[in-house]
Amino acid sequence: MLRVAVLLSGRGSNLQALIDACRDPDFPATIVSVISNNPHAQGLARAQKAGIATTVVNHRSYESRETFDAAITNDLDEARAELVCLAGFMRILTKRFVNRWRNRLLNIHPSLLPSFKGLDAQQQALDAGVKLAGCSVHFVRSGLDDGPIIAQAAVPVLDNDDVKALSTRILALEHSLYPRVVRLIAEGRVAVVNERAIIDGKLHSSSSMSNPSQD
Ligand code: GRF
Repeated sequence: MLRVAVLLSGRGSNLQALIDACRDPDFPATIVSVISNNPHAQGLARAQKAGIATTVVNHRSYESRETFDAAITNDLDEARAELVCLAGFMRILTKRFVNRWRNRLLNIHPSLLPSFKGLDAQQQALDAGVKLAGCSVHFVRSGLDDGPIIAQAAVPVLDNDDVKALSTRILALEHSLYPRVVRLIAEGRVAVVNERAIIDGKLHSSSSMSNPSQD
């Protein structure tokens, strides 16, 4: 069982997807800690309901990013976490933290990276007029939403989409993609070679997707 910690700041629907995945006795990972910088995050209640230990590390109580990150590291060490999943965690982590967790720190972002990094990725996609949007799970490096991409999933952008409709469509994919990636990592099937994430020794391909569709 891979010991997973989840860092979040808000709603926690991706945490919920991971909690639900972990209920399957065949799932090779378990969530050992949920840490939030926001004491009011809905994700904390989700964790508590599932009987998972929670910690609030409120950034406002720390005088620097370094001491804030050190407090998180403390909790991760105590929980003996082996993999850290950012799931709507709205703080920038220090280089030191990111390096310590190199290739053991994941993020999910609601765009097909490297497009539309940062906030309001779905609105950025609408503003750019792209025909396909989606989400990405990647290993974290010190740049914003940067690092080897492990998996991506795409959805069409529809003619009358607003940000809510598009975000909902992407979020549904996030909830299946994140647990799938955690499973792959727990099964030891993901490696980073030359800053590329490879699964089962190859860069995967499957059927193509286009919008408008080809048929
Ligand atoms: C998701 O869209 C995720 O991709 C982004 O922040 C959002 C978090 O949603 N990083 P939730 O808190 O998991 O519901």
